[in-house]
Amino acid sequence: MALILGIESSCDETAAAIVADGARILANVVSSQVDLHAKYGGVVPELASRAHLEKIVPVVRETFERAGLRYADVDAIAVTQGPGLIGSLLVGLTYAKAMAWALAKPLIGVQHLEGHIHAILLEQRQKNGQAPPPKAGPGIEFPAVALIVSGGHTVLYFVEQEPISAHPGQFRLRYRRIGETQDDAAGEAFDKVGKHLALGYPGGPVIDRLARAGNPDAVVFTRPQLKHGTPYDFSFSGIKTAVVRYAEREQMAEEIAAREERRLAGNADVAALCSQKTLDLVASFQKAVVEDLTERTLAAADDHAARSVFVSGGVAANSLLRKIVQEECAGRGLPVYFPSVALSTDNAAMIAAAAYPKFLAGDFVTLPSEPGFQFNADPSLPLGTSVSLGR
Ligand code: KG4
Ligand code: ZN
Repeated sequence: MALILGIESSCDETAAAIVADGARILANVVSSQVDLHAKYGGVVPELASRAHLEKIVPVVRETFERAGLRYADVDAIAVTQGPGLIGSLLVGLTYAKAMAWALAKPLIGVQHLEGHIHAILLEQRQKNGQAPPPKAGPGIEFPAVALIVSGGHTVLYFVEQEPISAHPGQFRLRYRRIGETQDDAAGEAFDKVGKHLALGYPGGPVIDRLARAGNPDAVVFTRPQLKHGTPYDFSFSGIKTAVVRYAEREQMAEEIAAREERRLAGNADVAALCSQKTLDLVASFQKAVVEDLTERTLAAADDHAARSVFVSGGVAANSLLRKIVQEECAGRGLPVYFPSVALSTDNAAMIAAAAYPKFLAGDFVTLPSEPGFQFNADPSLPLGTSVSLGR
């Protein structure tokens, strides 16, 4: 059995987890900084790295306590290398390097978005109760099209399996980026709309909840027209601006200011502070974003003869996105996979799971004691190759 410690600190969550064979979570601890950044309506990088520094040691300690393990019991240490905020990444990466060196354990670098994809494989294996050693895609048909949609990213990947030569029957994944946002990420648009309408931070989960009481057909938004890029590229800055313009046109400023004041004074019931017009606006906004995400993802799946669809990242927690993607895939007889809500947002179990095939393949970072040591955080680390497969 391979026990891997995962460490994640790319944005505003300090997280550690121990996962056995990429299949079983022994402990999964996430310390969120949401309250710290809430009053700014977005992540403040300097505050984020300081909070990571304070939290990394207790979070790792608690992970081992919950798993009932000692530090020396793990077989490898995996850490998010990028993409993310440089100051945040460096905290987890430096900690992981030091720990690997002190314990003389192999160190594995993981790309954050690969982690989001592996959240799905991890839970699928866990669900199947598959005895180790697990295959890369337990019950999952490849190739897959994966939509990773979060506060920092909106990307579509074409994902294939490839065998690990040293371990017959075991697979790792190969990724080709086929589309991405040309401006804002979808989660960023949710958060900016939430901030503009004074709904609280982060906007995504609040809008998801408020939208249930709104009419999603009340406001019609024009679909983004991309001058450049592929049919699988996204754009969300236009719709954010359209929401701002609508609020101006409909003279909603007074309501927004009153809500901000009441919210800051500690009134937590945002729904009670929203007019029907506001509820209709957020429901319409959410529907437009979700339809756009769904259409481009399904177009990519159809065009590339995908045999399954993955949706992961913070916005994958959105209830309407889950419903609509599931309906569209069911209509095509296409299996679709979402992580549980808990593993949709940033966590380290997904990092430990993504490291497992790398562990099998011996894909390690050289340790500080070895010559030629180099392993640095990379705020814009890409995943796989970027190829336009055409339509
Ligand atoms: O993956 P994540 O935890 O961090 C990043 O890597 O960005 O994603 C956070 C994002 C935020 O923008 C948040 O508003 C969004 O995910 N989010 C949601 C929901 N839950 C979280 N967006 C829409 N609906 C939700 N239920
Ligand atoms: Zn993420």
